[in-house]
Amino acid sequence: MEHREPYLHLRVLDRTDVAEAAALLGRGMADNPIHVSVYGDDEVTRIRRHASLMRVLLSSSPALTIDGVEQGGALVGVAAAAPPGRCQPRAVARLRLVTRGVTFGPRAAERLLTWNRAWAAHDISEPHVHLGPVSVDRHLRGRGIGTLLMLRHTTHLDSLGVAGYLETDRPEAVGFYERHGYAVIAEEEILGVPNWFMRRPPN
Ligand SMILES: CC(C)(COP(=O)(O)OP(=O)(O)OC[C@H]1O[C@@H](n2cnc3c(N)ncnc32)[C@H](O)[C@@H]1OP(=O)(O)O)[C@@H](O)C(=O)NCCC(=O)NCCS
Repeated sequence: MEHREPYLHLRVLDRTDVAEAAALLGRGMADNPIHVSVYGDDEVTRIRRHASLMRVLLSSSPALTIDGVEQGGALVGVAAAAPPGRCQPRAVARLRLVTRGVTFGPRAAERLLTWNRAWAAHDISEPHVHLGPVSVDRHLRGRGIGTLLMLRHTTHLDSLGVAGYLETDRPEAVGFYERHGYAVIAEEEILGVPNWFMRRPPN
């Protein structure tokens, strides 16, 4: 009998989805070079630490919109975005993130701070929707799940008529974002890892 993949279902996630979304972001980004540099060489530790941080971020940032793609009832892709004027976490969220980061030990905590400060320094001043984090489960990459999330994101940008902005540490993701109208506006090596800062002009 012919095998068919279950349909992909795109929906806006809510508070009840935070734990599953954070877990996906933790495992989906475990091989990102900056994560290796910040969280350390052990993959299980990287997954646990990033998921734990993402849980704090998603639950403390009510302005974030979180889109999710499900397949067969399981969450397989996530894209969060902050609306114009809300791309940096507010004081309470920032404090919670720092408090969680400190539990990772001094080396990782310091690296987290360096990474965050470096990314924040590149933030553009024009009104924009700030995309990220974005992640697709590793074994399901290259099947159009990221494209689905990006089509939703760019449709939203176009309906608002504002710029989009994002950061990435994955060279292969640069081309992916370029296909959705983003262009590299800056590059910087942070903690020994190249990072790209990308903007999508308003349409
Ligand atoms: C980048 C990412 C979100 C793309 O999602 P996806 O579902 O794999 O994307 P799609 O299947 O819709 O499109 C695949 C395209 O993405 C690009 N891509 C980027 N990273 C990829 C990866 N690890 N595996 C496969 N394709 C990848 C390819 O260039 C591919 O282009 P092609 O269609 O011309 O072959 C996903 O690969 C991912 O989660 N990567 C790890 C986390 C990450 O880097 N997030 C974004 C940076 S902040």
